Amino acid sequence: MSEILPSLTVSLGERSYPIFVGPSAASALRARIESLRAKGRRVLVVVDEALALAQGTALDDLFGDLPRALVPSGETSKNFHMLEHVCRAAAQARIDRKGALFAVGGGVTGDLAGFAAASYLRGIPFFQVPTTLLAMVDSSVGGKTGINLPEGKNLVGAFHQPAAVFACTGLLETLPPREFSAGMAEVIKHALIADAELFDLLEKQPLQTPTDPRLPGIVTRNCAIKAAVVQSDEREQAVEGGRALLNLGHTFGHAIEAVAGYGTYLHGEAIGVGLVLAGRLSAALELIDQDTVRRIETVVASANLPTRLRTPLPTDQLWEAMTRDKKVDAGEIRFVVLKDIGSARTTRSIPPPLIHQLWLTTGAHP
Ligand SMILES: NC(=O)c1ccc[n+]([C@@H]2O[C@H](COP(=O)([O-])OP(=O)(O)OC[C@H]3O[C@@H](n4cnc5c(N)ncnc54)[C@H](O)[C@@H]3O)[C@@H](O)[C@H]2O)c1
Repeated sequence: MSEILPSLTVSLGERSYPIFVGPSAASALRARIESLRAKGRRVLVVVDEALALAQGTALDDLFGDLPRALVPSGETSKNFHMLEHVCRAAAQARIDRKGALFAVGGGVTGDLAGFAAASYLRGIPFFQVPTTLLAMVDSSVGGKTGINLPEGKNLVGAFHQPAAVFACTGLLETLPPREFSAGMAEVIKHALIADAELFDLLEKQPLQTPTDPRLPGIVTRNCAIKAAVVQSDEREQAVEGGRALLNLGHTFGHAIEAVAGYGTYLHGEAIGVGLVLAGRLSAALELIDQDTVRRIETVVASANLPTRLRTPLPTDQLWEAMTRDKKVDAGEIRFVVLKDIGSARTTRSIPPPLIHQLWLTTGAHP
């Protein structure tokens, strides 16, 4: 059989890996499983429970009788108990250093299974099979893995790049529409930081359903943007720019998630409001004009994402949550701002009264 060419490659020296997107991803995945079997390698398939119900036949078709570990759906599965569950399932499947894990699900399964792969036997290979839009365009690429603590999200983890990513876009057809929209927040973010043409495309014709024929191309484009940023700053160490650019809208969004109570907004929904605020901050710094801010707001709204708080939240609590964000460096919040659509940079020393004013524009109360 002829080799299936990847849609793109993440170039990180000996940690480089291919990403397969769209209809060819399933064939590439089957070929990889066959080759592992032929070499006598043992594997464990870590699967999101709701996905296993929604896509049972497709998963049987892809993974057959390979041993599986089920992960209950939802953010709360990113914990030590589930890490132990996955690692013990790996031990029971007698996975050795030459074996591998497959992470099949959204960002929760990917982060958890990726961290299990990073720590089991001090590190074994793993493959990402993302099944949410967010995981396809964002979390499956870049090698950040981890779990949460009661004290905060993603506080324990490791950088561990996958050996390959297989984004079978057909699996998105059972994704709840609200989750699809949440993934669109990261697509819009990528367009804003690096791809003005993609932004125009979304502006002219919003991407609202997983059956849109443009989807595989748009996923590939997003993976390329994320790959380029990761290649330039794999471990987020750049003093300016680099991987931190991927946080556009996130300092605002994380504050909304924390103050509203985790789970009230999906992450992408909070980022929708955050992207609009990042636009307004950029306009307040005279980097972009008001018309550009309106365009951002329209594209966010067209993805069925909120552009304002659903219910008012107190400005002082939002500010306080921002100062507790992981991205605070030496007591200063590092914001990502837009120089234009498709171009971003990091900035510091934003006066707190300006941030307070910006919150008021989203329906926060003083
Ligand atoms: N590692 C990274 O670089 C990175 C980047 C961004 C986000 N994340 C993490 O990703 C997580 C969020 O990921 P997510 O938005 O994919 O959420 P998720 O994994 O919780 O999945 C969302 C929901 O969709 C369901 N689901 C998944 N695929 C489905 C399908 N095809 N059909 C039907 N239902 C399906 C799941 O059961 C779940 O209920 C967060 O924990 C976040 O911290 C990590």
